[in-house]
Amino acid sequence: MTAPKSSSVYASKHDPATLRTHQWRTVANSAGHLLPHLKPTMTILDVGCGPGTITVDLARNYVPQGHITGLEYAEEPLRAAREHAEALGVSNVTFTRGDVLNLSKDYPEESFDVVHAHQVVQHVADPVRALREMRRVVKKGGIVAVRESAAMMWYPPSEGMEKWYKLYRTVATGFGGNPDPGSRLHVWAKEAGFAKEDISCSTGTWCFSTPEERRWWSQIFAERLLAQSYIDIVVEKGGCCSLEDLRELSQMWRDWGEDEDGWFNITHGEIICRKT
Ligand SMILES: C[S@@+](CC[C@H](N)C(=O)[O-])C[C@H]1O[C@@H](n2cnc3c(N)ncnc32)[C@H](O)[C@@H]1O
Repeated sequence: MTAPKSSSVYASKHDPATLRTHQWRTVANSAGHLLPHLKPTMTILDVGCGPGTITVDLARNYVPQGHITGLEYAEEPLRAAREHAEALGVSNVTFTRGDVLNLSKDYPEESFDVVHAHQVVQHVADPVRALREMRRVVKKGGIVAVRESAAMMWYPPSEGMEKWYKLYRTVATGFGGNPDPGSRLHVWAKEAGFAKEDISCSTGTWCFSTPEERRWWSQIFAERLLAQSYIDIVVEKGGCCSLEDLRELSQMWRDWGEDEDGWFNITHGEIICRKT
């Protein structure tokens, strides 16, 4: 596979199933590490905000007297983000197009109290540059918070799941991204200019094991694998596998969802970096 020319290397595109996984995310299930650092009047930049459910949750429930800007490279999720804020009547949030690798274009130095990214820097061609830009626009004394997947584990062991995981990594890497980089975020942060003593690390997990969780999670992957945008990438352009392989992997996910012992875990690496 050849990497695209643009700085965004988001391989999943924004098909409906992908948007649904992002729209499930909240501060409680995806940004708990940020909570001890928030004050109600803060200004936050949420880079790569996607359909904005974490962004709107932050605005509504954690910085109600502050303001949050959701910045996103792609137009499709921004539409969903604006609709979501409007439906909930949340007005202290603004959504805008932009590139985390070029924040200088839109924001002067020291513009925000907090700069946050959830599952974004693994999808950009130069993650250290992204962190450097995030550091530049955060105020002195403020924080940059990043959370990215570090590892995926599942039960039962299966050849099909191994094959799916290999394909997932091949596609992400082929697009110039860094799949599951959660264990090295602190190293990238140092390269971006944060002092070691100003970086703290933690982990957070998602677990899908109840019948409802398995049904939801498996349907999403079964669908994502057969989305036309994914077929275009991996079969038509990438030549990574055949349509038949994708159909088999899609069925494998459906079978996993039906297995009462099925269990899926994603462990994330989290960093909080203070700008001193
Ligand atoms: C996995 S989604 C995460 C969305 C959201 N943060 C969440 O957790 O629900 C990654 C998002 O980053 C966006 N993205 C990728 N490259 C970007 C860039 N260079 N600048 C800004 N956003 C980018 C993608 O378009 C996508 O919406």
